[in-house]
Amino acid sequence: MKTVLAIFSSLNGIQGNSSKLANEYLSKIENNDSVRVNRVDVASLALPHLTGEEMQAWMTEPSKRSESQQALANVSDDIVETVKAADEIVLAVPMYNFGIPSSLKAYFDRIARAGITFKYSETGPVGLLENKSATVFAARGGVYAGSDFDTQTPYLKHFLNFIGISDVKFVYAEGLNMGEEKANSAFAEANEKIIELTRG
Ligand SMILES: Cc1cc2nc3c(=O)[nH]c(=O)nc-3n(C[C@H](O)[C@H](O)[C@H](O)COP(=O)(O)O)c2cc1C
Repeated sequence: MKTVLAIFSSLNGIQGNSSKLANEYLSKIENNDSVRVNRVDVASLALPHLTGEEMQAWMTEPSKRSESQQALANVSDDIVETVKAADEIVLAVPMYNFGIPSSLKAYFDRIARAGITFKYSETGPVGLLENKSATVFAARGGVYAGSDFDTQTPYLKHFLNFIGISDVKFVYAEGLNMGEEKANSAFAEANEKIIELTRG
């Protein structure tokens, strides 16, 4: 059984362009009995910013945590378990104000845990998640891929690499706010890529 964790982050829910692309991909793989998809919508999850208290709770030995520290630690522990249980991570990522949605950043902040998902060695950081791949569906109003203004691609690659996921693929739909023709051709191109990825 292959488990796919699909992380959505559009403010428009399933109507979001990034959500539609990711769901198009998922619809092609999830009718296979050996694939189970676990969907998480971080936009509606609305995690708060990471706080000092929450970080302190992580660093306190479980047996020494207060009740409220344990509740805080559970937030990240549960997310890490969800990620660990997945063989593939699907990320539906809109571009908001030149970056990833802050709700997705808040989710990532709960995934990066020293000693659990990464560690530092004498030669640098080592990702502790093994045998996982990631597929990113990036929806943008403008056009950025391949330019210095695409902050999302290097950030997502670097973050996923940092926790041990080096097999990362991207599907872009760009120029979605640049007129109907441009949007239609961006979707057509993205759908071609999805067919390519799911061809088996
Ligand atoms: C709050 C907000 C900020 C946005 N910022 C950008 C941006 O910086 N660059 C860009 O190309 N498009 C920007 N857009 C357009 C979105 O990237 C585009 O509508 C995309 O389809 C959003 O994905 P979604 O439909 O999955 O939410 C922004 C849209 C919103 C709502």
